[in-house]
Amino acid sequence: MSRFGPDPQAFFEAVYRKPAPWDIGGPQPAMVKLLVEHPPEAPVLDVGCGTGDLAIHIAESGVKALGVDFVQEAIDKARAKARLLPPEIANLVDFRVTDVFDAESLNQSFGGIIDSGLLHLLDPDQSDAFIERLASLLRPGGRLYLHEFAVTFPIPNVPRAVVEEEIIERFASACGWRILTLRTEQFLSRFAPVAATVACVERV
Ligand SMILES: C[S@@+](CC[C@H](N)C(=O)[O-])C[C@H]1O[C@@H](n2cnc3c(N)ncnc32)[C@H](O)[C@@H]1O
Repeated sequence: MSRFGPDPQAFFEAVYRKPAPWDIGGPQPAMVKLLVEHPPEAPVLDVGCGTGDLAIHIAESGVKALGVDFVQEAIDKARAKARLLPPEIANLVDFRVTDVFDAESLNQSFGGIIDSGLLHLLDPDQSDAFIERLASLLRPGGRLYLHEFAVTFPIPNVPRAVVEEEIIERFASACGWRILTLRTEQFLSRFAPVAATVACVERV
């Protein structure tokens, strides 16, 4: 069973019936900063894009972006935001209801993949499969941008900690990766900021 019960999709669908805790009305500042430091190559995939602010931010920088999330309500909200954009930016961003684990769903490769808060939802065995999946979607030289809680709270249905040691182990050169940036920042929420591990890693 996942950290979020037998049906994680149903869990997140229920969360989106109210404003989600992570829906801060704009992209996470730690990710914005990381993307300035390591500009992504198009196209960019935003996995677990929520209501789309980060994918829209990428499109506003002139880079084509696809946001995917397995919750219809989140994608509906993302599409509503995209409809308000000037056409030249709206043309650069697309949103799809997709489970990132569905191998049939994404059949293109990406220059960059953004994950703000999905890896930390997964237990270690699911995390192995998730990173393999992302590696298969990245072009050689493509970059993966991560932003995950760095602390674990002793309550049910919250993310786990993804600490810097885990990033160093998962993205070792022997596994075909190069770590470009790794540091601690914050994951903002509607309640309080949480210490977060931020990383940019390159597929060699
Ligand atoms: C913590 S939220 C972060 C949302 C967004 N990235 C942000 O920073 O505001 C994690 C998101 O991942 C989505 N998600 C979780 N598992 C997923 C999966 N297997 N496939 C697609 N989306 C998933 C959830 O629905 C949720 O929107």
